[in-house]
Amino acid sequence: EEGLHPTHYPWPHSGPFETYDHGSIRRGYQVYREVCSACHSLNRIAWRNLVGVSHTVDEVKAMAEEVEYTDGPNDEGEMFQRPGKLADYMPPPYPNDEAARAGNGGGLPPDLSLMIKARHGGADYIYSLLTGYVDPPAGVKLAEGMNYNPYFPGGGIAMARVLFDGLVEYDDKTPATTSQMAKDVTTFLSWAAEPEHDERKKMGMQAVIILSAMFAISIYVKKFKWAPIK
Ligand code: HEM
Repeated sequence: EEGLHPTHYPWPHSGPFETYDHGSIRRGYQVYREVCSACHSLNRIAWRNLVGVSHTVDEVKAMAEEVEYTDGPNDEGEMFQRPGKLADYMPPPYPNDEAARAGNGGGLPPDLSLMIKARHGGADYIYSLLTGYVDPPAGVKLAEGMNYNPYFPGGGIAMARVLFDGLVEYDDKTPATTSQMAKDVTTFLSWAAEPEHDERKKMGMQAVIILSAMFAISIYVKKFKWAPIK
């Protein structure tokens, strides 16, 4: 059974010239860190990826250092704990799928790195899912621990509603409504799935400008060269 078709939202980064809203990526990271990362990994993003995108290098270094990583073996053949570095990847909440299922009543919280690309509807779907929890319609019986969300195929989802007004406190003082947090974390996940997006659009624009200029010059040169023959 298919889920409810999500509404199409006007994401500021969807036009051909538009880059991401970086303030929203920063707020979305905060939502990921404080809410989603309790259950979901983000395996393809390293701390260094955030530098110059949502945070300064000093901010990212400080955030990485708060996390303990297991490293080694050292010269004595032992594993050891050390604070995180820019090159480390986002720490996963569980050591493996078995532990993740055990912590979520049998449901497996998927890695969120490529979720925007993996699901039909992309950003519209994720936003709709996060804001779309409702009571099950009359007659719909859900298994123990399951929640009703009409956007999720089948309706019954192992993830409960996680976003509620005022759940986080943004440092830029944006009011953290449910929809604001859903928008920001969706923008963050859009960036995570395509970190080269802004660069690609800038390069595309440069190519258009350079090729247009070359075309204009070639017209001028052609006219000039052929002028005496006419
Ligand atoms: C599934 C996003 C927080 C547990 C999912 C899916 C997404 C998602 C996109 C996949 C849905 C699909 O398969 O189409 C998020 C975001 C979060 C968040 C953006 C933070 C704002 C959490 C938290 C928990 C959790 C805090 C645990 C307490 C799960 C589980 C599933 C899931 C168990 C699997 C659901 C199923 O297959 O039935 N989440 N999640 N999520 N999430 Fe989350």
